Parts: sequence; C-alpha cells; structure tokens
Amino acid sequence: MSKKPLPAHRSILVLHGPNLNLLGTREPHLYGREALEDINRRLARAAKSAKVAIRCLQSNHEGELVDAVHRAKKQGVDFIILNPAGLTHTSVVLRDAMLAVGIPFIEVHLSNVHAREPWRRHSYFSDIAVGSIVGLGSGVYDLALRHALGLP
Ligand code: DQA
Repeated sequence: MSKKPLPAHRSILVLHGPNLNLLGTREPHLYGREALEDINRRLARAAKSAKVAIRCLQSNHEGELVDAVHRAKKQGVDFIILNPAGLTHTSVVLRDAMLAVGIPFIEVHLSNVHAREPWRRHSYFSDIAVGSIVGLGSGVYDLALRHALGLP
C-alpha cells in the first residue's frame, strides 16, 4: 500500500494586516466581495483535510502583528502566509520580526500591487519571502496554502 507523502509544513499561521477585516465591503473592485471569515473558513477546511494545524489572525495594529510573529516561533509554527496590507510598504518593524524568527513565509496580496500607485510596488517583504503571489483575488491565499502543504 502506498503511503501519502506528508505535507511540507505541519503548523501554519495566516496573518492579515490592517483593514483586511473589511474585506467584502472595502473597495470591492480591488479586493473582491468575499469576507475575511469566508477566506479563513476555506483555508481551515483545506488544512484540516491535509491534517495540518492552521490559525488565522487579523490585526489593525502593527505591534500586535509583531507579537503574533514572536509567539508563532514559540508555538512551533513552521510556515506563515502573510498579507501585510498597508504595512507592506512601510513596516521595518514587521520585516525585522519576520527576519528575527526566521519562519519561512509567502507574501500575498489580493490586488495587483504592481498595477496601482507607484509606491505600492515597493515591499519590505518580497526580498525575504519564499515567494510572492499577487493580483488573483482571494485565490492568492489558497495558492500559498497549496505550496505550504507541499501540493503542486
Ligand atoms: C493589499 C495591497 C496593499 O497595498 C493595501 O494597502 C492593502 C491590501 C492587497 O491584499 O492587495 O491593504 O495588501
């Protein structure tokens, strides 16, 4: 009997930055009409079927996100899916937190940050991420999770 290969990662944290709690109503032409809870529920279902632990957290506060990254290290999280939202373009401290814990992560953005205002093209995270997935709507989270689970 052939054994299923184990997923690449066993404990995943999904971190959503400021204003992503408003998904569904916030600028739907850019971010879609799906609520954050619906995205989180979908990710939780996919992780459960792969028998992988997942936790999703959203905060509007930079320090809370930094604390969550520090906690993730202590909790044994081994992969992070990160949408830093507006902090993408500003946050040295969140970048430093990611570097400090050294947990591999994928940076995701629902909108195509390269096709918007020029200042959105700069990210404090892209050069230290495993990869970045942008511009495909909420599917960016699903694709990042597939990678984390070791799925093609
Ligand atoms: C975003 C893009 C950011 O530029 C913006 O500030 C956000 C959302 C995205 O998912 O497309 O809040 O990260």
